[in-house]
Amino acid sequence: MAIMAELHQEHVNLKRLLDMLSRKIEKFRGGTHPNFQLMDDVVEYVGNYADTYHHPREDKMFEFFKGRDTDVDKLMLDCEKDHVDLKQLSTHLSEAIEGVLHDAAVVPMDQLIDQLDQFVGREKEHLNYEESKVFPALEKLASDKDWKALDEELPAPSDPLFGSKQSDEYRDLYEALAADLKADE
Ligand SMILES: [Fe+2]
Ligand SMILES: [Fe+2]
Repeated sequence: MAIMAELHQEHVNLKRLLDMLSRKIEKFRGGTHPNFQLMDDVVEYVGNYADTYHHPREDKMFEFFKGRDTDVDKLMLDCEKDHVDLKQLSTHLSEAIEGVLHDAAVVPMDQLIDQLDQFVGREKEHLNYEESKVFPALEKLASDKDWKALDEELPAPSDPLFGSKQSDEYRDLYEALAADLKADE
């Protein structure tokens, strides 16, 4: 069940960025003017990574298991709806931050903070829902044969450039955020 291990690791990575973003938002609310470019980069990255890479893989996995158990179907449907909502949230948020960056801010600061908070909160809730409810339910339902079939159907991205580019970008952002948080202290 390589797919589960990979999705879980992606959750861990995403959660680390989201936790740091939460700390930045707290400081922002407390009056510290954030580095908007960095915030934009992190939100873009989380949104992009989730919407174009992580969620589509999960959607395909859900598709594979659909129709076996009504309760599990319901859980998976919740996640699919979340994926759609989260994509909308991340797009709106990116637009709002870009507005600030390009001095065309139509969104007041306190509203932007709320929007950031909502985005990070919803992303975290979604990760927790999958980790605590959906994935355990799928693990109970699936056989070794299912995992084998899924691993063949949904292999890890074979393009090494994409893989390493993704992790370089992740590392750079993580370090930049950590340095930025330290500078605030
Ligand atoms: Fe998901
Ligand atoms: Fe996920």
